[in-house]
Amino acid sequence: MLVSCGEEPAKPIDKTEPLVKIPQGFPEIVSPPDNILTKDKIALGRILFYDKQLSRDGSVACVDCHKQHLAFTDGLPVSKGVGGEIGGRNSPTIVNSAYSAQLFWDGRAQSLEVQIRGAMFSPLEMYADENMIDEHLRTSKDYKARFATSFGTDSVPNTSLAVKAIAAFVRTVISGNSRYDRYSRGEKTALTDNEIAGMKLFFSERTQCASCHKGFNFTDDMIHSTGLYVHYYDKGRALITGNPKDEGTFKTPSLRNCGLTAPFMHDGSVATLEKTIEHYDHGGKAFKNKDERIIPLHLTEQEKSDLIAFLHSLTDDELIKKQEYSAP
Ligand code: HEC
Ligand code: HEC
Repeated sequence: MLVSCGEEPAKPIDKTEPLVKIPQGFPEIVSPPDNILTKDKIALGRILFYDKQLSRDGSVACVDCHKQHLAFTDGLPVSKGVGGEIGGRNSPTIVNSAYSAQLFWDGRAQSLEVQIRGAMFSPLEMYADENMIDEHLRTSKDYKARFATSFGTDSVPNTSLAVKAIAAFVRTVISGNSRYDRYSRGEKTALTDNEIAGMKLFFSERTQCASCHKGFNFTDDMIHSTGLYVHYYDKGRALITGNPKDEGTFKTPSLRNCGLTAPFMHDGSVATLEKTIEHYDHGGKAFKNKDERIIPLHLTEQEKSDLIAFLHSLTDDELIKKQEYSAP
């Protein structure tokens, strides 16, 4: 191949350079065999994540509902899609969703690829038109080149490949360097006395918080009801299964970065962490499907504030500044 002046010859790929830095104590991320991670694909996915042209009227990109400075949420009770259409649910974080076996509040998507397609085509989100997106991707020179390096020189840019690239990017959005993590790794000054007291309460038999919000990502990745209501407007998992026992049940959200992701719960109805703790302290409402672990806790004011302090220690300041995730 001829190499013109100033152009670098293609470098062999450095196989030793990790594509994603996995925090200590976190498992490796697993990609589907037909969508392995590559540097080019991740870079393409990042551009697409910020591209408003993937929505019907060019007004909404993924990032509009998943903002980096809010740990990839949008700060609204429920999201606003194309044309200001109000959705029914709170925007969850995309952080660490590489590890989630079931996505969405009701767990209806089993892979990021399926979930992202859902977001793009939902009338409440991007309301995408596949032909329009294909056209947009095909007519951009930059996309043409990037799809070629990501998916092969004879690939034609299209929506399905775009979904794969976005999924690859989302898999790399990982958070595991909060002060709590540093404390767990032996940096004993990383948490204050109040935060340590809150941590002990969180992991105690008495509160049972960690029986659902468990493991490295503070979630069991399962579906429960915490008794937010006596009658749920949003039927949650029952919308998928049709089973009355699933009414009012939702996926346990990760609590990482919850200091940045208010308002809370599937419908954004709980404005603050303080109010969330009040909800648990009261033991929720008398709802038929409420999990038996949600019972009155009789926490003192000090214990409530310790718990809240601990939840704030799960914020990862690196995540919200990280260049690799910001607008390309
Ligand atoms: C209009 C706002 C909006 C837009 C735009 C949007 N999302 Fe979402 N996203 C949401 C809401 C709301 C949910 C939860 C929906 C539900 O549970 O039914 C969600 C769920 C998710 C989840 C699942 C997280 C979990 O733990 O279950 C991921 C990942 C995600 N979105 C990524 C994306 C990507 C990638 C795009 C762009 C292709 C995108 N979203 C576009 C609002 C939005
Ligand atoms: C039975 C399992 C279970 C237990 C026990 C539990 N949670 Fe939850 N938690 C959930 C589920 C499920 C949700 C989402 C509920 C919804 O949206 O309706 C949730 C939501 C939350 C939220 C909101 C997060 C967000 O992003 O919206 C916080 C904060 C929280 N829990 C903290 C706690 C604390 C602190 C405790 C202990 C006092 C606790 N949880 C005990 C399952 C549980």
